[in-house]
Amino acid sequence: MLPTPEIPLLPESVYEPAEDSYLLLDCMELCISGLQERKYPIVCEIGSGSGIVSTFLKANVFPKGLFFATDLNPNACEAVIATYNANCSQQKFNTFDVLQMSLTLSIRPNVVDVLVFNPPYVPAEVVPDVPTTRDHYTWLDLALLGGEDGMEVTWIVLLNLEKILSRDGVAYILFCARNNPDKVEELMKQRGWSVRVIEKRKAGWEVLSVLEFKRS
Ligand SMILES: C[S@@+](CC[C@H](N)C(=O)[O-])C[C@H]1O[C@@H](n2cnc3c(N)ncnc32)[C@H](O)[C@@H]1O
Repeated sequence: MLPTPEIPLLPESVYEPAEDSYLLLDCMELCISGLQERKYPIVCEIGSGSGIVSTFLKANVFPKGLFFATDLNPNACEAVIATYNANCSQQKFNTFDVLQMSLTLSIRPNVVDVLVFNPPYVPAEVVPDVPTTRDHYTWLDLALLGGEDGMEVTWIVLLNLEKILSRDGVAYILFCARNNPDKVEELMKQRGWSVRVIEKRKAGWEVLSVLEFKRS
């Protein structure tokens, strides 16, 4: 089993790694042999929170990868770098950075080889507004609440995969049962994507799954 990164003390406004984060790590480990066929990939994690997923990937899967993480939360952007530094100080290739931005849509098109996203997936009336101050109490709402079916943010990414991913790029996205992942799989297949469930797991009263998306 690959080691899980140590997480330095996080500010209250940053999402603590939870079952969803650990499910993503397990899925990356399950897919490791296929993933490691890419020697120098560009890896992007959207919504990196504490940085646990990106740091795990850099430390264990793609030591020679070029990494960038994105998060809207400035406190999370600092936490990502702290987590990376706490776990990867021995790395020869220090190719890891974070951008405070929404999603990843303003990055040059078709450069991401591996995309990972644990989105705000909890169904809610609306996706919350982005807080205007660093110490606002609603940063965690932004980490969790995904609007209608919990899918508003995720659909933006899914509908832009064509633009985000490189020619043979791959995306791993986490869903809860209330996001209707079966329906997502079918709709994405109709749009020409090859979709595979990597793992499905009960987590408390939720059922979480991670789907892999590649061009057919
Ligand atoms: C469920 S948390 C996942 C955190 C971390 N990746 C993990 O697995 O533990 C979702 C993260 O996405 C960030 N986020 C929410 N909406 C975003 C957006 N539009 N663009 C970038 N990040 C976003 C939140 O600030 C939060 O850090």
